[in-house]
Amino acid sequence: MKFATKAIHAGVEPDPSTGAIMTPIFQTSTYAQEEVGKNKGYEYSRTQNPTRTALEKNLAALENAKFGACFGSGLAAIDCLLKILNPGDEVIANNDLYGGTYRLFNSVFAKYGIKFHFVRMDQASAIEAVLNSKTKMVWIETPTNPMLNIIDVQAISDALKASAAMVVVDNTFSTPYLQTPLDLGADVVMHSVTKYLGGHSDVVMGALVTNDEKIASEIYRIQNSSGAVCGPQDCFLVLRGVKTLHLRMQRHCENAMKVAKYLRNHSAIDKLYYPGLASHPGHEIAKKQMLGFSGMVSFTLKSDTVKAAQDTIAKCRVFTLAESLGGVESLIGHPATMTHASIPQKLRRKSGVVDSLIRLSVGVEDIEDLIADLEQALE
Ligand SMILES: Cc1ncc(COP(=O)(O)O)c(C=O)c1O
Repeated sequence: MKFATKAIHAGVEPDPSTGAIMTPIFQTSTYAQEEVGKNKGYEYSRTQNPTRTALEKNLAALENAKFGACFGSGLAAIDCLLKILNPGDEVIANNDLYGGTYRLFNSVFAKYGIKFHFVRMDQASAIEAVLNSKTKMVWIETPTNPMLNIIDVQAISDALKASAAMVVVDNTFSTPYLQTPLDLGADVVMHSVTKYLGGHSDVVMGALVTNDEKIASEIYRIQNSSGAVCGPQDCFLVLRGVKTLHLRMQRHCENAMKVAKYLRNHSAIDKLYYPGLASHPGHEIAKKQMLGFSGMVSFTLKSDTVKAAQDTIAKCRVFTLAESLGGVESLIGHPATMTHASIPQKLRRKSGVVDSLIRLSVGVEDIEDLIADLEQALE
């Protein structure tokens, strides 16, 4: 099946007892068993829940994967995957990761003896410099949050074929509509489902998908053992959100491109980051591995101060100041004091997250209203 058909149908069957077209919210913690050891495939909802199963199958299908697992948040999904590793193992990750991923790596897993190297992944030599026999995972976020750097998934996966390292892609910013990393050679895809997949800013959830049976069985073992699962109501909301993912992403991409083109010529803007523009250093790779360039746009101001950024943000009326991204409504954020505040200032500035950096999650509203809002805010 093609993407839109899968988004609407994959994993979803009419309910056998009633014919209900929409997957019911199986709000139950446990399941009656006919006799000891005889059940209908469900025993306890930490382990399995039918609403969650439908969503796990749906997300796996969208990423061209065989196995899917959903969690209580994106970070819970990352936490599960990292627990596959052992003390002494090493991980190589982008140096401009989402701040929460960086915090989980550095402040939780580092103390259990896992070593992290944060490098510029747009330079193959930077990975080669730290790659060694202890490297068990390479963590790629592309486009990165919030600098929108593009990492060449195929090139990195090919280069690592001979090593024991598992290639993981955080596909949150792209979504499977725009990019399917498993097809580019990655082993696992991770999502903050909270963002575009949910799409309506009403759910916090994470997901992992893979084609590797061994990795999948470890994921399911840890999902059940650690128990960071999501509830059935949230699974229902995401199943509903995913049905329009392709339509929403088309409009997010269209609107973001128009916003980027408007900002490109604005006298108050210093640097503009949008992978859809030919001037973006990752544009050619983005064109190769993505169907569109997603809805995120970042920029800095000529007056590079926290105050200048905050004054601009305060004037916005349609763009709402908030954490998160990927919902139908446009949001505006200040990474240095919000999403990336947990990254030390020196490291943060080095990766481009300077004091005036502003990040836009361009929604699916009328483009004229979005541009007019930015125009008056930047005056
Ligand atoms: C790229 C990326 N990965 C992971 C996460 C973490 O996901 P969650 O907030 O659902 O735990 C986020 C959250 O903003 C993100 O932007």
